[in-house]
Amino acid sequence: MSAVTASSLSAEVVAPFIRGRFGKPYRYEPECESTQLLLLGSGLPEGATAATDHQTGGRGRMGRPWEAPPASSVLASVMLHPPPERHLPELSLVAALAAAEAIEGTTELTAQVKWPNDVMLNRRKVAGILSELQDGVVVVGIGINVNQTRDELPLDAPTEPGSLRTITGNTHDRAALLGSLLFRFERIYDGWRHGGLADLYGEIGARDFLRGRRITVDGEEATASQILRDGRLEIVTDSHETRAVESGEVLFER
Ligand code: BTN
Repeated sequence: MSAVTASSLSAEVVAPFIRGRFGKPYRYEPECESTQLLLLGSGLPEGATAATDHQTGGRGRMGRPWEAPPASSVLASVMLHPPPERHLPELSLVAALAAAEAIEGTTELTAQVKWPNDVMLNRRKVAGILSELQDGVVVVGIGINVNQTRDELPLDAPTEPGSLRTITGNTHDRAALLGSLLFRFERIYDGWRHGGLADLYGEIGARDFLRGRRITVDGEEATASQILRDGRLEIVTDSHETRAVESGEVLFER
């Protein structure tokens, strides 16, 4: 295993990469059930971050598990206290854009946002976002597949997974990637906090993975038009009806 593959997300390794208020305070557990549980109900301030090298009960969307071998991934959750006027479902897109930018920074490849919460690289899902709301605060969990080999990726995922390693052929520094993610997330989140998706729309729209693709959304076949300025997904159904979808699971044709 190379030095890059083996490094941990411990506070002392990650601290040199923390440049803003996201990541402060920083709570690290070598292993935990889920980083979401380290923050939910904690009363910690905005930007507080929990990270681990291994989750025993990692949570994905739709009640699915999120699994990764020890020390292979970025597994982190960030505490947010969004203003009440903001539309909270947009936060998954905000976090996905931050993850896409951080992944682009380390791989020098273009990453795309697959509405509503995935990050795609070379048509593979390399990152997922889980936003959980409790008592007015939102804990946003981000999982990035970094150094898994092909046979360490889940076999039964609805969207074909990849890792930065399987796509670039190189291992990547998880601590540096987490620092970059937190820095970009803070900047993008602050923009959203101030003005919603308006100022971010160009960057999200430019990375819209589903645009023009044949999809199935919650069992219905359609063509995806685009992510709308309000964060919904516009689709054209096979009966030629144009609709905006608020949330759901989207499968696409390969
Ligand atoms: C998905 O694509 O289904 C969302 C996956 C979210 C996974 C991350 S890993 C860090 C945080 N802790 C969890 O238990 N889940 C999120």
